[in-house]
Amino acid sequence: MGQMDGHVALVTGASSGIGRAAALAFAEQGATVVVADTNDQGGEATASLIRDAGGQAMFVHADVSDAAQVDAMVERAVSTFGRLDHAFNNAGIEGASAPLTECTRENWDHTLAVNLTGVFLCLQAEIPAMRAGGSGSIVNCASIAGLNGFPGLAAYVASKHGVNGLTKAAALELAAEGIRVNSVCPGAIDTEMIARVKAEQPELIEQTIAAHPLGRLGLPEEIAATVVWLCSDAAGFVTGQAIAVDGGYTTQ
Ligand code: NAI
Repeated sequence: MGQMDGHVALVTGASSGIGRAAALAFAEQGATVVVADTNDQGGEATASLIRDAGGQAMFVHADVSDAAQVDAMVERAVSTFGRLDHAFNNAGIEGASAPLTECTRENWDHTLAVNLTGVFLCLQAEIPAMRAGGSGSIVNCASIAGLNGFPGLAAYVASKHGVNGLTKAAALELAAEGIRVNSVCPGAIDTEMIARVKAEQPELIEQTIAAHPLGRLGLPEEIAATVVWLCSDAAGFVTGQAIAVDGGYTTQ
């Protein structure tokens, strides 16, 4: 028996990295998982991994920056499985790295559209579905870039600070209805996102690892464990928090 038997969990950006690890972790606790992403092949692979392990999962193609696709994603989850208990709004992009004065309007708009508007649209679709069930728990994926500044990443940093602000506002609006909303703020985690940055700027990744007091990259499973805990009854008195899982990075 898992602690989430009979529950339905939605994870965006679940084709790879942190999202895939979270989808697998929800399934390990017994939840049925709705795997959402723009990457159909990776999303189907995540759903297959869950089913192969004996769990229940469905892939839904959804671009989180598109309101109609987000609404359809949540409708499909509820019409297929009857309820929505947990959501991890994780889909995100790193955007292009450039000094602020060289950050293009296109990069700014796209990074904000996916990372911040995407979370806003997901919340708008998920909250009515959770209200219908009388409770729920939501985790938004921010970053240590939602707590600290990083040069060359203005759009990403602004988007992730926005996620933390949006999380606090949503938590206060929804507390009386039994819906908790928190964010997770990963440090540098060993995923394809970090691999892309490493391919362009290997020295930056070495410096970043060195700047984490625990002296290594985090694992996607370490973020997933925190997300599942935040969604569980064990975290029943936790809402509106930005939880850093960062090897000590933001304590410095
Ligand atoms: P990743 O690149 O492995 O995974 C991101 C996933 O989001 C991919 O499956 C991608 O297809 C999906 N995605 C991108 N745009 C989308 C859209 N518009 N709609 C739906 N899905 C979309 O990267 P990773 O590292 O797993 O990132 C997950 C989250 O964690 C992101 O929000 C990222 O900003 C955040 N994060 C990652 C850190 C790291 O060091 N890897 C550090 C801090 C935060």
